[in-house]
Amino acid sequence: MENTVRVAEDLFYIGASDRRIALFESAFPVPRGVSYNSYLLTDEKTVLFDAVDAAVADEFLENLVHALGGRSLDYFVVHHVEPDHSAGFLRVKEKYPSVKVLASAKAAVMLKNFFGYEGVQVVKEGDVLETGKHRLRFVAAPMVHWPEVMFSFDETTGTLFSADAFGTFGALGGSVFADEVHFERDYLDDARRYYFNIVGKYGVQVQNVLKKAASLPIKTVCPLHGPIWRKDFASYLGKYDIWSKYLPEERGVAVFYASVYGHTKHAAQLLAAALARAGVTNVAVYDVSVTEKSVLLAEAFRYSHAAFLSPTYNNGIFVNMEDFLRDLCAHGFCNRSYALVENGSWSPQAARLMRETLSSLKNMCEIGEGVTILSSVTQENAAALDALAQAIARTLVA
Ligand code: FEO
Repeated sequence: MENTVRVAEDLFYIGASDRRIALFESAFPVPRGVSYNSYLLTDEKTVLFDAVDAAVADEFLENLVHALGGRSLDYFVVHHVEPDHSAGFLRVKEKYPSVKVLASAKAAVMLKNFFGYEGVQVVKEGDVLETGKHRLRFVAAPMVHWPEVMFSFDETTGTLFSADAFGTFGALGGSVFADEVHFERDYLDDARRYYFNIVGKYGVQVQNVLKKAASLPIKTVCPLHGPIWRKDFASYLGKYDIWSKYLPEERGVAVFYASVYGHTKHAAQLLAAALARAGVTNVAVYDVSVTEKSVLLAEAFRYSHAAFLSPTYNNGIFVNMEDFLRDLCAHGFCNRSYALVENGSWSPQAARLMRETLSSLKNMCEIGEGVTILSSVTQENAAALDALAQAIARTLVA
């Protein structure tokens, strides 16, 4: 049974959600599922915007056939070839063999490599497709987050088809519209996690495309994942602007610790308590061996300050902290203040090594000179953690 939603004049949502998926891209837990959005324009010509993941291809095809109402499919616009959107590509081609596939030059190469398909009609920035009442303009969006990505803008209705941009983890429920769900409560954390883990490395490219979007009279934004935006898009756009500039979303401290037997955890708790005593009200504490790494990454980007506390292990940084720091580096972590605490029972090395890792990042400022614990926290260590918290608090006020 089909499940389509009218989005705007002549435009239908024909995607579907997957709540059985455990790991998106085989890497990121999605306990609230994920939606694969696809859209159909039913003008004098019919236009399909993207397919879906294999997991929901049957539902998508049923929706497509229903929304077409017996008409043929004239155009198939492929904004992004990653298989969570293109896995259904050949099934669309089999069902509608005469459909014209429109995509960027790089997408044409990828469609050949993924599916052996060579019939793409290549479009580029500024090209226009007239479908009757609607006029679609193509907008290049390279590296948001793959090189072939493009957006389409329906000049007639002000609808932007934004590929992965403005998408989020989280399946769609009764409504597909952001103004009919509690986005901030139910989707924003997943949106942030999606952005920083999937798209976040390419902040410069996101900024470039945001500048292009600023010149468009956008009324509706149709991403490939998550709710469709018809109202109050400025607030979400503002988040994207902050995120893609690598600026902190909140003034506060994220305390990240690794602990083998609980002594470094004790130091983290003492530091957090000292921050509270120093008047810092926005403190979050994470055990990097417990909290899932995509959450850690998003939380690190969320806050203005971070503290990293790690035991020395195999003469290096404890493995889970080392993994986390490597992930931060891979995603271009920058523009933050940080403090370091190390533990070591015979030869503490973790602070020096964490400092070396973080010093390769842009515009990072260490507060204090690090605190060294030898096995368990002493009174002197507690005093040093207190002094470190006060130094962090002073920079937060500043
Ligand atoms: Fe949703 Fe980059 O694929």
